[in-house]
Amino acid sequence: MKKNRQDTLIVAVDGYSSTGKSTLARDIARHYGIKYIDSGAMYRAVTLYALRHGLYDPETERLDEGGLKQALEKMDIDFFVDQSSRDQSLVLNGENVEREIRQMEVSRSVSMISRYGFVRTKLVEKQRAFALSNSLVMDGRDIGTVVFPDADVKIFMTASVEVRARRRYDELLEKGYAISFEEVKSNVEERDHIDETRKESPLRKADDAVVIDNSHLSREEQLERTLATIENKWGRAHEQP
Ligand code: DC
Repeated sequence: MKKNRQDTLIVAVDGYSSTGKSTLARDIARHYGIKYIDSGAMYRAVTLYALRHGLYDPETERLDEGGLKQALEKMDIDFFVDQSSRDQSLVLNGENVEREIRQMEVSRSVSMISRYGFVRTKLVEKQRAFALSNSLVMDGRDIGTVVFPDADVKIFMTASVEVRARRRYDELLEKGYAISFEEVKSNVEERDHIDETRKESPLRKADDAVVIDNSHLSREEQLERTLATIENKWGRAHEQP
């Protein structure tokens, strides 16, 4: 993979949920003027599809594997980027579902759906295709370990559960969702547990990843640290991404 992309920059940002991975990944992408891909949004889109089509029942946690396998073959997952704001939306089979994939119903089921190997294989294939001759920043759980094991720079983000739950809670309140802090916190903890203990590509730090604990870092500070890491690891060998 590396041989064909000597001049491209691949940055993998992995870590726990609500650590602000996407904020950091977006900031890096903006700094270098390169593409940003939110791999979690792709797992959310598959989950939304499964819920909408009755392929997954959150009560019994039963998945119609055959049905979802078939649907994945023709599922179109892409990103729409608003050129002026640079905001990104996930487009599922031609429909902008950015708002729907962030709803609690999807958040509750996404870790279960992303445990399935056939779902991961399909999405990893799509994620790698985004990088063909393109520099990019991708955030997720297995980007540095599975999707791009030879990424130029790998960042692993973490923060305390309290801090992460508070961020997520504030975000949901702002969007007008009626939910308690305790509910948000237990969702964060539950997702950590499922992500870390699943058989297929569990969340873990790549050996060569740089850890950023942003419990007490501002957005500017975390970007500064990351850019320093990128310049150190990659920038010296390449003038421009
Ligand atoms: O980043 P996020 O919280 O939007 O991700 C949603 C879920 O998708 C998360 O619970 C775990 C899963 N996920 C994954 O398994 N692998 C990835 N590369 C990205 C997300």
